Amino acid sequence: VTVYVPCDTTALAMGANAVADALQQAANAKGVDIKLVRNGSRGLFWLEPLVEVETPGGRVAYGPVEPTDVDSLVGAGLFEGKADHPLAQGLTDEIPYLKKQQRLTFSRIGLTDPLSIDDYRAHRGFAGLEKALNMDGQAIVDAVKDSGLRGRGGAAFPTGIKWQTVHDEPEGQKYIVCNADEGDSGTFADRLVMECDPYMLIEGMTIAGLAVGANQGYIYLRSEYPVAQRIFNDALQRAYDAGYLGRDIRGSGKDFDLEVRLGAGAYICGEETSLLDSLEGKRGMVRAKPPLPAIKGLFGLPTVVNNVLSLAAVPYILDQGAQAYADYGMGRSRGTLPMQLAGNVKRGGLVELAFGITLRELMEDFGGGTLSGRPLKAVQVGGPLGAYLPESQWDAPIDYEAFAEFGGVVGHGGVVMFDDTVDMGEQARFAMEFCSVESCGKCTPCRIGAVRGVEVIDRIRAGENAEANLTLLTDLCETMVDGSLCAMGGMTPFPVQSVMKHFPNDLTRQKA
Ligand code: NAI
Ligand code: SF4
Repeated sequence: VTVYVPCDTTALAMGANAVADALQQAANAKGVDIKLVRNGSRGLFWLEPLVEVETPGGRVAYGPVEPTDVDSLVGAGLFEGKADHPLAQGLTDEIPYLKKQQRLTFSRIGLTDPLSIDDYRAHRGFAGLEKALNMDGQAIVDAVKDSGLRGRGGAAFPTGIKWQTVHDEPEGQKYIVCNADEGDSGTFADRLVMECDPYMLIEGMTIAGLAVGANQGYIYLRSEYPVAQRIFNDALQRAYDAGYLGRDIRGSGKDFDLEVRLGAGAYICGEETSLLDSLEGKRGMVRAKPPLPAIKGLFGLPTVVNNVLSLAAVPYILDQGAQAYADYGMGRSRGTLPMQLAGNVKRGGLVELAFGITLRELMEDFGGGTLSGRPLKAVQVGGPLGAYLPESQWDAPIDYEAFAEFGGVVGHGGVVMFDDTVDMGEQARFAMEFCSVESCGKCTPCRIGAVRGVEVIDRIRAGENAEANLTLLTDLCETMVDGSLCAMGGMTPFPVQSVMKHFPNDLTRQKA
């Protein structure tokens, strides 16, 4: 009997290794021959560690399982896939949270053993690359353009157009750089890709290399993701051994090499030009654009810089066709967005859906409301630089343009929920404080503005000359938005302005 226990960071943090050991011991004691597969997470975090058992009718799920639950679960017939136990969740695929999703990028997540190339291939892995190996670069760029894929790191720039710019640069050394410095609050989709389906990213980057004529790729990974580093490096070695990387990929005569480089904990190194500085071995400082990295990027050479999720979407597009991807979504936001539910939420996890679903549906139907059971007060979408959205905005569809209309940010798809006990004044202060800590220091509105921002908010909250200080804060926010060199200083005012507009009483209410 095949038993699955996930091996990604979330499951490990919830004690998955101890559960796997307990299951093996229970099987030995019972004389049952089990095949224990360490799969990736299904992304249903509130059920982790989620144990699954293969049955003729499909996989049956149990969770959240603690080592002390194992005896009673085995007694109730876990190894036979029986379900008479409070932790039994029925058939995994029938769990509504999973069943209602449209998983294109995450179609394999949780199904496979992340390190097994055979398993990857059995689930259409490398099918996109096999096609790309027989196409010319322009045809690959066209497929990505036609799919409508836009950068999933947050800025939503059309991926195919970025690739076209690099493709059109004269032949010579070019690079593919994957931004895996996933720093937004509440986000974990990049990590799940690297830990649960690493070959998908390897495949996406190799296809990008073939498209633009680059034979070297780097993955800039945040050092806070040690499990991703271990699993991904293991996958890289296996891909080399199986001929999917390196010289003469699968006998095609084409080459592509990939390496992982670790960041050192600076949020600003997720900004693409700062990332490139860091990758070159320098302190991560933002560079002025132009020149765009597509023209003068890593070591001054043409470089594609894409987020993990953008590159991970590419194998599906090549395999199933651009139209299959473009069929999902709304308006100019084509395809699906892997959203991440976090904060004060009952059912946190990964939800991949076509653009167009509303925030309310996401937070209520999928998230099940707050974990505390108290009323939801605000939600921050798009990381620490995203606006706080009040209830009047929860019925807007998740779409880049629709969000921009009311000053919202879709960003990298992180959704952080807050109940009615949150002090939004404190949240506004946090935005400025975060910027003052993480600013690279290159430009004045951000470097000085964020520090002054904290001071002004403190004065407002202390009831000192509140009206004049509110005017000052308004001016300061405008200066930072208009005058900052990059999104760090340019977007920090968004959460602050949203608090001033939608939760003004929280800001002026004096601290106890
Ligand atoms: P941007 O709008 O300056 O650039 C978007 C991308 O398009 C860049 O890669 C740029 O080089 C490229 N580009 C623009 N014109 C091009 C052309 N003609 N040819 C080729 N490439 C072209 O935005 P930026 O500063 O890169 O990103 C800001 C976003 O980052 C924000 O919207 C925010 O949501 C997001 N963000 C994401 C975080 C995360 O953890 N994923 C953290 C913080 C912010
Ligand atoms: Fe650096 Fe901030 Fe200026 Fe960006 S806005 S360049 S982080 S100082």
